[in-house]
Amino acid sequence: MRRAQIVGTGSAVPGKVLTNFQLEKIVDTSDEWIRVRTGIRRRHIAEEGTTSATLAADAARKAMDDAGITPQEVDLILVATVTPDMAFPSTACLVQEMIGAINASAMDMSVGCSGFIYGLATADSFIFSSKYENILVIGVEILSRITDWTDRNTCVLFGDGAGAVVVRANNNGNKGIISTYTKSDGSLGKLLMLPGGGSKHPTSYQTVAQKMHYIKMQGHDLFKPAILSMVEATSYILEKSGLTSRDIDLLIPHQANIRIVEAVAKKLRVPMEKVYVNLDEYGNTSAASIPIALDEARRKGLIKTGDLVMMVAFGAGLTWGSVLVRF
Ligand code: COA
Repeated sequence: MRRAQIVGTGSAVPGKVLTNFQLEKIVDTSDEWIRVRTGIRRRHIAEEGTTSATLAADAARKAMDDAGITPQEVDLILVATVTPDMAFPSTACLVQEMIGAINASAMDMSVGCSGFIYGLATADSFIFSSKYENILVIGVEILSRITDWTDRNTCVLFGDGAGAVVVRANNNGNKGIISTYTKSDGSLGKLLMLPGGGSKHPTSYQTVAQKMHYIKMQGHDLFKPAILSMVEATSYILEKSGLTSRDIDLLIPHQANIRIVEAVAKKLRVPMEKVYVNLDEYGNTSAASIPIALDEARRKGLIKTGDLVMMVAFGAGLTWGSVLVRF
């Protein structure tokens, strides 16, 4: 059976770190509150001059090196981001130029924190239909540029980074994506949005004065939907594939909040030893969180040949989804 196999991973995270203690000096918060309520200790912040496209290109080059392919072999570049360099051209097209993928088509996907999962699901379909052979799927965010650094409800949560994978057609064997699941509920979109700068509220002095160019989030109301939707997405795939949560070798959930991650693992009966967590170091990097975690887990030797890895995310839209992969 033709499958979409993940044959290379890479990530790029800015060197500059912002600790909880540094945040104590910016807003009325404490290291203890942030750690206990979220599990986050530090986050990485892009330096001036770094953009989503430059971070994405760095991650993409590493993934291509890992996969042993040249940029010319890439057929499609999918970039999941809510922090594109600009409205257009797409960040994917900017990345195409930076890495020299002259034979590729390229497009962005705006799916919030579920973007990388939607990207993998899209790549899977393009490969299954024999349209493409090699696809770069990238999740990248520079959330620090859309964060209101006076709002303690949000500014402690987010960070910057990029992760990329090369997905290649595998015509023999059972390695690759086994199943994908994606779902949305636009009726809850108002819980997490960036209202300014689009056709509804074009940028003006007023939108800037009202801080409409920053993330607006009702975090408390997102907490339960985040848990329920990630459990639903994981359970759906397991059932469809005739598997149980005991078959999962590694669960890589979106890294938003350790309490959400632990609740999802508990409901699925997956022990925390099988759950990859790095949000203490990076915070919530939205579409980049899963590909960064996947790359780290592979480099640490936590994913062996034959392992079943479940990735699951939840985010703005609202959107959620999961991907099950045999490595
Ligand atoms: N430091 C100190 N106090 C803070 C704070 C901060 N950084 N942020 C909020 N608080 C305060 C609130 O003002 C509130 O005070 P009050 O009780 O006097 O009104 C109190 O802490 C509790 O706020 P609440 O929002 O109920 O906290 P919470 O336990 O729900 O945790 C989140 C807040 C945002 C960490 C949590 O709800 C969360 O992670 N939600 C999901 C968000 C998410 O995943 N978003 C992205 C989707 S991909």
